[in-house]
Order: sequence, then structure tokens, then C-alpha cells
Amino acid sequence: MQNWIKITELENIPLMGARVIKYEDLEIAIFKTKDGSIYAINNICPHRQGKLSDGLVHEKVVTCPLHNTDVDMISGESIGEEYECTKTYELKIENSLVYLNLK
Ligand code: FES
Repeated sequence: MQNWIKITELENIPLMGARVIKYEDLEIAIFKTKDGSIYAINNICPHRQGKLSDGLVHEKVVTCPLHNTDVDMISGESIGEEYECTKTYELKIENSLVYLNLK
């Protein structure tokens, strides 16, 4: 089941950075990479609760600021580590507005 919510205008997501949205008990980071792609991932790292929104953004990867683990923003997998997967979310853009699928 799909559950789209409107979150922000595309221009409000900083290039090579993140905008954090809070929805009920969720904290989700929306990242924009150098080429303008955007990704949504749970902001709380499953290892020791680092805030991924404070991490460095690379192509499709964010580096957790606490222990420097790279997290794939598409799959949510920790690269080179066996930490629990971080939940990722589907996004869509319509008329410069960004929507997040909370399914
Ligand atoms: S808290 Fe993210 S890698 Fe440790």
C-alpha cells in the first residue's frame, strides 16, 4: 500500500546535504547528491544511533558521522559492515514538490 505525503520543495533540500523531516515517531533524512538525485533514508543509524543527516554525502552513499560506516542510500545496507539495514523510502517529484512514500 502506498502512503504519499508532501514534504518540501525540491530547492529546500541542500545540495550534498540533507533535510530532516519528522513524521509521527519517524525521523527521515532526505539527501540530495551532486548530480541532483534525491534519496530518503531513516536518519538514525542502526549501529549506535548516529544521525546520518550529519554525514558526508557521496554518490548514492552517506558516511555515518559516528563510526564512518558507508550506508547505501538506495538499499540501506552498511557497506563492509554487517549492521542491520537502514530503512529507505521511495520519493517522487511533482511540480517541484517532493513526496515521500511512507509504506
Ligand atoms: S552509529 Fe553509524 S556506524 Fe556507528
